[in-house]
Amino acid sequence: MLLDVQDLRVDRIVTGPQGEPVPEPALAGVNFRIVKGRILGLVGEHAAGKSLAASAILGLLRPSARLVGGRALFEGQDLLRMSESDLTRVRGARIGFVVQSGHATLDPNSRVGAQLVRAQSIHRPIVKAEAAWRAETIMSSMGIPEPRLRAQAWPHELTPGIVQRVVLGLALINEPQLLIADEPTAGLDITTQVQILDLLHLELRRRRIGGIIITRDLGVVAQYCDDIAVMYAGQVVEQGPVMQVFARPAHPFTRSMISDAPERLGIAGRQIVPPRMEPEQGCSYRPRCADATERCLVAPPLVGAGVHAARCHFARIAAA
Ligand SMILES: Nc1ncnc2c1ncn2[C@@H]1O[C@H](COP(=O)(O)OP(=O)(O)OP(=O)(O)O)[C@@H](O)[C@H]1O
Ligand code: SF4
Ligand SMILES: [Mg+2]
Repeated sequence: MLLDVQDLRVDRIVTGPQGEPVPEPALAGVNFRIVKGRILGLVGEHAAGKSLAASAILGLLRPSARLVGGRALFEGQDLLRMSESDLTRVRGARIGFVVQSGHATLDPNSRVGAQLVRAQSIHRPIVKAEAAWRAETIMSSMGIPEPRLRAQAWPHELTPGIVQRVVLGLALINEPQLLIADEPTAGLDITTQVQILDLLHLELRRRRIGGIIITRDLGVVAQYCDDIAVMYAGQVVEQGPVMQVFARPAHPFTRSMISDAPERLGIAGRQIVPPRMEPEQGCSYRPRCADATERCLVAPPLVGAGVHAARCHFARIAAA
């Protein structure tokens, strides 16, 4: 197991009526697993908590959020309990991370080649000439033409597609075992999106590294991922192999997502903000669930058979 996230819980700190800080559950039980060399699609509506989960795992929570509990075992080591200095050694080296607005990753005041060199030298001592050669090599494998020339460019001189290729190169240059890509094609035109996703998929397979692709687009999951984890209102409500979940979705939200796609989750689709979680109300999907009964006033556990599991009292999951 490369990464095993168990019952990850995070509170968001909001301001109460008297101006006092009030914790409110933002992640209320996120569970998913990534097996070496496999790609997981973490999917869900706007504000479901996908980016928050990735940030929590990587120790990148803003002060407006607080880790409450859970485990994130990366090759057996709990990332949530690592010291900041140990985590700094993991982040950007053993785990590559592409943030949701990837272009913001690049320093506008530094040439892209220099940024790729710096990404290596902060993690290990490396001779400058070798780092520069590796920077050009990764640019070339990211499909950037004339890498030596482009290494001298400033970020603003590059097209959005090339910028995103550099961002991917930055995430891969230290040969991570796991790459987390949060909406890696946001803001790009459709043709460039396909090119970037093809490239990401190819590189993950070629390097045999595990990947998490965070997306709102089920088509991306179907095409590029082996496993899926479906998030709703701060919880993973269903997870399993893509083929199995698409063929026999066990959670009503997954079923509605599949039948509505791409209108609800597609790139240009309508965004629905899930209701704030009220734990005392039982299942968080109850207000929208056509199958809800009295029993759903009690929060359902994650139940499953083998690798396929769902958080619903009435989920019937056949063993694969
Ligand atoms: N790094 C972070 N630190 C603190 N709070 C965060 C962080 N990232 C997201 N949040 C907050 O977590 C809540 C859930 O939002 P999140 O960004 O995780 O949704 P999402 O599922 O990624 O949605 P989208 O598809 O729109 O990107 C929001 O209130 C958001 O402001
Ligand atoms: S537990 Fe009840 S409300 Fe929740 S998804 Fe299942 S049927 Fe719907
Ligand atoms: Mg997000």
